[in-house]
Amino acid sequence: MSTSRYQETYARWKADPQAFWAEAAKAIDWIRPADAVFDAAAGVYGRWFPGAVCNTCWNAVDRHVPTRGAQTAIIYDSPVTGTKRRISYSELQAEVAALAAVIRDLGVGKGDRVVVYMPMIPEALMAMLACARIGAVHSVVFGGFAAKELATRLDDAKPKLVIAASCGIEPNRVVAYKPLLDEAISLSSSPPASVLLLQRPQAQAAMTEGRDVDWANAVAAARVEGRAAECVPVAATDPLYVLYTSGTTGKPKGVVRDNGGHLVALAWSMTNLYDSGPGEVFWAASDVGWVVGHSYIVYAPLIVGGTTVVYEGKPVGTPDAGAFWRMISEYGIKTLFTAPTAFRAIKKEDPEATHLKRYDMGGFRALFLAGERADPDTVQWAERILGVPVIDHWWQTETGWAIVGNPLGLGALPVKHGSPTVPMPGYDVQIVDEGGRPVAANTMGSVVVKLPLPPGCLPTLWQADDRFRESYLTTFPGFYNTSDAGFMDADGYLFIMGRTDDIINVAGHRLSTGGMEEVLASHPDVAECAVIGIKDALKGEQPCGFVVLKSGVTRSPLEIEKEIVQLVRDKIGPVAAFKIAVTVARLPKTRSGKILRGTMKKIADGDAWTMPATIDDASVLDEIAQALHHKGVS
Ligand code: COA
Ligand code: AMP
Repeated sequence: MSTSRYQETYARWKADPQAFWAEAAKAIDWIRPADAVFDAAAGVYGRWFPGAVCNTCWNAVDRHVPTRGAQTAIIYDSPVTGTKRRISYSELQAEVAALAAVIRDLGVGKGDRVVVYMPMIPEALMAMLACARIGAVHSVVFGGFAAKELATRLDDAKPKLVIAASCGIEPNRVVAYKPLLDEAISLSSSPPASVLLLQRPQAQAAMTEGRDVDWANAVAAARVEGRAAECVPVAATDPLYVLYTSGTTGKPKGVVRDNGGHLVALAWSMTNLYDSGPGEVFWAASDVGWVVGHSYIVYAPLIVGGTTVVYEGKPVGTPDAGAFWRMISEYGIKTLFTAPTAFRAIKKEDPEATHLKRYDMGGFRALFLAGERADPDTVQWAERILGVPVIDHWWQTETGWAIVGNPLGLGALPVKHGSPTVPMPGYDVQIVDEGGRPVAANTMGSVVVKLPLPPGCLPTLWQADDRFRESYLTTFPGFYNTSDAGFMDADGYLFIMGRTDDIINVAGHRLSTGGMEEVLASHPDVAECAVIGIKDALKGEQPCGFVVLKSGVTRSPLEIEKEIVQLVRDKIGPVAAFKIAVTVARLPKTRSGKILRGTMKKIADGDAWTMPATIDDASVLDEIAQALHHKGVS
């Protein structure tokens, strides 16, 4: 018999969702309470906490200052620069209030967008919190994207201001951000009026007269002059941020997060899912450019009065595969959240976990994994070496917090390897067939969530209600389509088996193969192309591009393949990890002309496959297999 309070809690939510979320909302400071917990008539599928007024920065920072002002809010540890720093709640409040005053003086007000282009440094969190403080909408862009991707986001968000650092630091190189930013601004149809630039000593950037403002000077002046912005009251339904994520084309989707629902959902998840509370150190080893970073580096640990960790390094190589254990022992980290790929990287370098012996892991309580499928091998290895619960949980940028997980705070349920366990309160998860009919236990289907989505999930896409409806709500009316496929067993445990669209997951990074195909197709020698995700022992998946060259092209295919690899790096960015381009004479197609990507993937992965009945010319598949073999891929 499980002693978990999960069943009772989930049943309580199901019986009366509004009462459930009204109770959860008590964890938040409201300036004005909501008129209703949920308004089904508002927005695309309803809105949470209409009429309520709040401020996210207040809840994450200011409200803790009277009781825990001296407590560390942010630990910064940067093995790539050799820097360590602790920032208390009082210091964070002073820094964020001054920065918010600077941003406000640059003409940014409530509802204005601010694009943040920064690496893993505490100032990235300050920039986000400063926006939240004055009701501006931040949109953080991951540092591993190229200028064109940044430009696309500028065009959509139309920011008044960009806040950037002069560089990011990868173990093998300094990534100068300013040239990328300048190029993006020159490509953009909506250039920002100002850039607030944080100069880092590793790469000083040239300033553009009349546009660029130096962060250090501006914030120092604000502090000397005593200029500090107070928390501005915003509607619970106002946007806190827009985070762009890969869609099925090159145009990313602007996932909108509101203020009120987000506060409530994150606070609930910290206590009940992660079992992490005030004064405890919570480390999400991700990046502020991803949703995991937004929710569990920046907001959730601070909302509950915990200590968060900003780590500028990698799981391996900075300096070794003991980096995570050092962090855990040095800072008394209780909970670690990362992507399985980080553990696969550690396991590859140090299979016997010899580095672990050097560190006192006595305070460590749990490891949470998400962002990609957690393969049972890696989970079991982590369980064995760490001796603490290892918890897989499944969610998406769109939801902002876990759809399915194992709620440690309510008492963990028995683990089934390969399953992220059970739906969290708020989510009625169902598996349906192509016609939207529920399927039996253990039968594969589309994973859908009955509307409305709970607090914290996206209410819409940025200024694109129709795209939101079309992308998520029309395939299965009354349900949110997760675009993941999987099954549920007789105990209600979910198993996620893969995406139903063209999204692939490379080292926990979500990428669109459609977006990559657009880049490949733009090469002057390419007639046709297809990009698929193939199995990778470290990164889970890696992209593999097939190109058919235009007739009459006489250049060496090898040379063209190299250009294509570089083109993806230049147009999408190094994060795409696009390294394999294969020239083929033809692509396998159905008689109606659809490229058989699924079969190509099975061939590349060495999985069993059957000849599609609709194939136009079966011999093309042999050509694909041979081309992959030549490349050393299969
Ligand atoms: N800025 C600029 N470039 C970046 C970057 C950033 N913030 N993050 C990654 N890159 C670059 C890398 O340097 C690499 O470039 P390269 O082709 O010149 O080597 C490329 O993008 C691919 O990066 P990545 O896929 O992360 O591979 P990696 O070999 O650098 O590291 C891991 C592999 C497993 C160690 C790494 O992916 C990792 O730490 N993952 C942890 C999980 C995680 O953060 N997931 C995010 C969602 S939770
Ligand atoms: P992102 O929006 O970047 O968080 O990516 C979301 C996608 O990553 C999901 O739709 C899944 O395909 C995949 N994913 C995330 N977490 C898991 C998990 N625990 N198990 C399996 N797949 C996952």
